[in-house]
Amino acid sequence: MSNNDLAIVVLAAGKGTRLKSSLAKVLHRAGGRTLVEHIVRAGEPLKARETVVVVGHQAEQVAAVIEPLGAATVLQHPQNGTGHAVQVAKRALGRARIALVLPGDAPLVRAETLKALVATHRNGNASATILSAVVADPSGYGRIVRKSETAVSAIVEESRLTDEQREINEINSAIYCFTLEKLWPALTQVKPNNKHRELYLTDAIAVMSGKGETVLAQLAGDSREVLGCNTRADLAEVDRIFREWKRSALMDAGATIQLPETVLIDPDVTAGEDTVIEAGVQLLGKTKLGARCTVKTGSVVMDSVVGDDVKVEAHSLVVESRLEDGVTVGPFARLRTGTHVKSGGRIGNFVETKKAIIGEGAKVPHLTYVGDAKIGAKTNIGAGTITCNYDGFQKHPTTIGKGVFIGSDSVLVAPLRIGDHAYIAAGSTITQNVPADSLGIARGRQVNKPGWAAKKRRELAAAQQPKKSARRGNRKKSNRKSKKRR
Ligand code: UD1
Ligand code: CA
Repeated sequence: MSNNDLAIVVLAAGKGTRLKSSLAKVLHRAGGRTLVEHIVRAGEPLKARETVVVVGHQAEQVAAVIEPLGAATVLQHPQNGTGHAVQVAKRALGRARIALVLPGDAPLVRAETLKALVATHRNGNASATILSAVVADPSGYGRIVRKSETAVSAIVEESRLTDEQREINEINSAIYCFTLEKLWPALTQVKPNNKHRELYLTDAIAVMSGKGETVLAQLAGDSREVLGCNTRADLAEVDRIFREWKRSALMDAGATIQLPETVLIDPDVTAGEDTVIEAGVQLLGKTKLGARCTVKTGSVVMDSVVGDDVKVEAHSLVVESRLEDGVTVGPFARLRTGTHVKSGGRIGNFVETKKAIIGEGAKVPHLTYVGDAKIGAKTNIGAGTITCNYDGFQKHPTTIGKGVFIGSDSVLVAPLRIGDHAYIAAGSTITQNVPADSLGIARGRQVNKPGWAAKKRRELAAAQQPKKSARRGNRKKSNRKSKKRR
């Protein structure tokens, strides 16, 4: 059904006092996104004519998050309650006939659930349709008071519950569909008769029902979808659920995840078939993993593009990097921004790379720093090699050709070019370009002195002789003393 008569209103002006935070509640994160971003995205598939976010606390920061998603903002100042927040949005709703009202702090709701709510509202010709849920612990939520099996008479907030109403375990999700020409007059009749002197949107329900208008409540299929984030514990629980859903989606797409509850995956991450993600791994940001990859325990991959058959060994950190097919990384490797390992390349343990292109089949197997460097195909970088890319003022590039062999413990002082198939002798400090097919060697020449060590030992032994006899004398004395004591 077309939704060109529908507007979406997200209420996101509140501070979130119960979080005890300097950050507005809707800017807190769960499941890898801010709460307000989740809720705006959940509404997107409905293709409403407009989405209006009511902002107040840290309005500019909230606007910065949601404007890229194409939503508009209206400012609510001061924040006089959820009913007032909807009134503030009135002008921005234009010609919309019905509105889906969403709280900014219930981010788990899915588009399908919202679509079903709008459909129920339309089919039932209702003035208001509430998304409700039956929960084990309803405390803190407004309760749905029904007058018949289908119709609602009121939503009663926790603070005003009678003992009888306290037993109701059907709660208000604060997600509603309203027919606007019925909502506006009802809101004018709502009084701020609560201890916060706020206009509660929930009170409009009793007004509408009292006028004999149709007010429906539809149960959410999965009661977890309506969880609101009022406390840090709520945020942790909502985050846990998002992460669980994301892992399930990747497993459904053919990835294996070991000990899934220990693995953290951001919403935009993808993984190909038969990729194995071990316990304690984090896949963050816009990371894309190909097929048949393995990411071993304790590794973190962020904003990186990984081809097929790639192995990230244990405890490696890969950030804003690109790993082509068949690459191996780690264990204990740190790949920083701008690392690009071409197919079959290998980065070993205790290696750090930054802005580095590692050619096809090239190896950087151990204990190395490669920064601002380009390494050709099949080149081997010996253990302990360092590219000195920084002179205290500027960064300089190192370009190493293909088929090069860099001996262990070499220091390559940039800017520097090393030609194809060159050799660098181990332990060299290379400060000048090395032409192709040449040997670069830059270290002190070795001198062996025959017999030197043996002579040295004899001298040292002789120097210790007198001290030894003195000590023996002392020992005798003390022996005598101990005999006397006996
Ligand atoms: C609200 C409902 C309650 C429901 C619960 C579900 C009311 C009075 N109560 O309670 O029935 O069970 O949600 O989670 O609506 N906001 C504004 N401007 C304001 C006040 C609030 O934009 O002046 C926004 C908040 O930023 C928040 C949302 O509205 O995103 C809900 O407000 P909150 O204070 O969290 O309401 P609850 O007490 O949770
Ligand atoms: Ca809330």
